[in-house]
Amino acid sequence: MTSHNTSAFPATRLRRTRTHGWSRRLHRETTLSSADLIWPMFVIEGSGQEAPVASLPGVSRWSIDLLLEQVAEAIDLGIPCVSLFPNTPADRRSDDAAEAWNPDNLTCRAVRAIRDRFGDTIGVMCDVALDPYTSHGHDGLLDESGYVANDITLDALVRQSINQAQAGADVIAPSDMMDGRIGAIRQALEQGGHANVQIMSYAAKYASAFYGPFRDAVGSGDRLKGDKRTYQLDPANSDEAMREIALDIAEGADSVMVKPGLAYLDIIRMARDRFDVPVFAYQVSGEYALVEAGVAAGVGEREPLVMEKLMAFKRAGCAGILTYYAPFAARILNG
Ligand code: PBG
Repeated sequence: MTSHNTSAFPATRLRRTRTHGWSRRLHRETTLSSADLIWPMFVIEGSGQEAPVASLPGVSRWSIDLLLEQVAEAIDLGIPCVSLFPNTPADRRSDDAAEAWNPDNLTCRAVRAIRDRFGDTIGVMCDVALDPYTSHGHDGLLDESGYVANDITLDALVRQSINQAQAGADVIAPSDMMDGRIGAIRQALEQGGHANVQIMSYAAKYASAFYGPFRDAVGSGDRLKGDKRTYQLDPANSDEAMREIALDIAEGADSVMVKPGLAYLDIIRMARDRFDVPVFAYQVSGEYALVEAGVAAGVGEREPLVMEKLMAFKRAGCAGILTYYAPFAARILNG
């Protein structure tokens, strides 16, 4: 009598269903498709301009005319939505971030150009936070002591949001982490005749070391004094992330985001289990750059490394993923 076979049948073999490819396909619990992806794009002034981001190999900033070609590619690949991030010229950055509500700022011109060319065939999401527009690179306005002050920032965020909605943005995505901004923006959108504009809240956004290449891309990194720990979440906290998400839902968010992604899969799963709202993950710039560095160092092949990570977000409960790999992954997924 052997101890590992005490029943009348051989030991249950979970691996039996893994023997052939058809069976692995049949038993697959999670699926990933190009419809799960949101493509973050960086915009610059000028025409015919492509400016590669050195710290994000394979990612460029595009002038609006060339950005449109990228958006056309997104449509061809079945990517449902793009997210725009401006690299504002230095002379348009200021302490009060006034460029954020200039109807002709880079973001608004890009939104209008996409809308004019492609109508409603692709969703356009705009980030709400003042960092591309402030001289100091913080997401909010500073008080006399240099502290990022919540309440004086809310009005600026509302003006920025309405400006983007008027330009034709479909989704407003506040990434600033000020308290009360979702309610304030929702109310202003309703009153301003933009009832159908969605809010995807960066609700659980951590004060992370993984944002470095993004700050290079939008030109805020060198300006930034100090860090964002007075307003972004402490990486040690998960209960607090749930409180942030609960508040944003109560204030009117249509969907919420967890950011960064891979180091916070537990937060995604917690949010999914607790709240009946779509949860998105942002696979941020540092996560992308680390994969690229690993590929360059011979750690592994790009395709399996990227696809395993993207599948992990879906398995953790994500409705979709913001990723600089969106076109790369979509090409693979579309076969
Ligand atoms: C700005 C913002 C950041 C990112 C998205 N929106 C950076 C930050 O908070 O400093 C990071 C995205 C990335 O790293 O890819 N509020």
